[in-house]
Amino acid sequence: MRLIYQLVQEGHHAQRLDASYPTGAVDLVREAMQRMTRKVVISAHDHAARSNGRNKGSPSHMQFLKRWFSNPENVPVQTVEEEPSLEYFTWLLSRMPLGDAPNLAQSPHVGAKDDSGFVDRITAAYRRAYAAFVPTSSAWDHSLLSIKADVHRALLGDNADEAARVLGRPSETSFFWGFDDIAKAPPGEVEPHELVVRRLNGAISWQKLHAMWLMDMLNSLAEAIGARRMTYPEMQPADVGAYYANARSADQILDDIDETLGIKLQFPNPFPNETGLNTKRGIAGFRALQAVYQAWRIGQFSRSRADFKVLEIGAGLGRTAYFADLFGIKDYTIIDIPLTNAAQASFLGRTLGASRIRLHGEESVAPVRIVPATAIDQIDERYDLIVNVDSLTEMSQETAEAYWRFARKNTNTFLSINHEINQNTVRSLYANDPDVRGLRYPYWMRRGYVEEVLTW
Ligand SMILES: C[S@@+](CC[C@H](N)C(=O)[O-])C[C@H]1O[C@@H](n2cnc3c(N)ncnc32)[C@H](O)[C@@H]1O
Repeated sequence: MRLIYQLVQEGHHAQRLDASYPTGAVDLVREAMQRMTRKVVISAHDHAARSNGRNKGSPSHMQFLKRWFSNPENVPVQTVEEEPSLEYFTWLLSRMPLGDAPNLAQSPHVGAKDDSGFVDRITAAYRRAYAAFVPTSSAWDHSLLSIKADVHRALLGDNADEAARVLGRPSETSFFWGFDDIAKAPPGEVEPHELVVRRLNGAISWQKLHAMWLMDMLNSLAEAIGARRMTYPEMQPADVGAYYANARSADQILDDIDETLGIKLQFPNPFPNETGLNTKRGIAGFRALQAVYQAWRIGQFSRSRADFKVLEIGAGLGRTAYFADLFGIKDYTIIDIPLTNAAQASFLGRTLGASRIRLHGEESVAPVRIVPATAIDQIDERYDLIVNVDSLTEMSQETAEAYWRFARKNTNTFLSINHEINQNTVRSLYANDPDVRGLRYPYWMRRGYVEEVLTW
């Protein structure tokens, strides 16, 4: 043991000792190093976290080796066996996982409040929108709609309590299925965020991996906006991310983000059972973190112009619109299918306030408009920016092309964040338009997605 320690202390890498030590000793060191490196790395991270600022920067792994070799029983180490391989899950991450992922948390049940006036507005708008609904060939207008048939009936029916229940308790139905993870899986299906992780790793609990994914996403957000330095992987594995070794909790990262942006991020959880990271600002879930980045990007385009007008096609729950408000975007229009419109109204009414939302068929000047797809012809305005995230390529070719023609007519700046797994891509929409200038780069917040800024 003494010899090994001495060799390690002198060389760091067994390979470097080859010339001056007998083969047997070198093999011994190499084997010891292979067994030890991971354990020592984990111990070093633990130590850095415990030292709480006293030991800033990269901790000394040699110190751990020294302690371990002199008295292995007394050095607390997690063993390699307790850390099963991440398998293909690592492809989702943008950096080496730093320390243990926190536990996931869920938002609590909120007390019932009388929102019957707003529920009536949502159901009335839904009836109007549904009366003019023309299904396209996309799954959104067929299979997804039949999965949500009970919600559709509740919104069309004359039982106001039932309509209030489906609008206020989305985790009990499949209402948000396909665009948000606060949803009950239909029979035989697995929630998509859970499914993604399970497909990539069969050994570790999906909750642990999901939390790791969210922490990675939060770090990407911090790096994207410049609140933290980029992680640099071309170094000793133990030193990857060492710069932040003692400031890695979700709250610490969010504090850095606030400081850089000069805002106070909050994660409103108006619905029970939303899953995500437990922060002092609410549960930060997958879609919420994505939305913060998207809203920040929209804010960059606006350059603080108070009259900046945005239209978003296919907006899910409307989370990007919610955070865009925080970044100073006050004129925001969403266009989507009628059932998702109802979800958006429910979320934005509870977060931004019902008086700030204008629903289909309402006469008002409220600045956040929610418009059904079939009413697109009624929009005759110009927008400073049209946004589409994770949806144009899921629509039928004709629908995607119709939106592209609309964008060409009604704006000169289009921000797209989409994957390219489907037959249609956003690139194929503009590839033959010679006057369109397309900037393409990987999306910071989710691997496999491309961010495109299209101008003409
Ligand atoms: C996968 S979700 C993405 C939602 C959101 N952009 C996000 O990234 O979280 C797809 C969105 O496209 C919407 N959508 C489907 N068909 C549409 C259509 N014909 N017009 C507008 N939106 C549509 C869905 O309702 C849903 O909001």
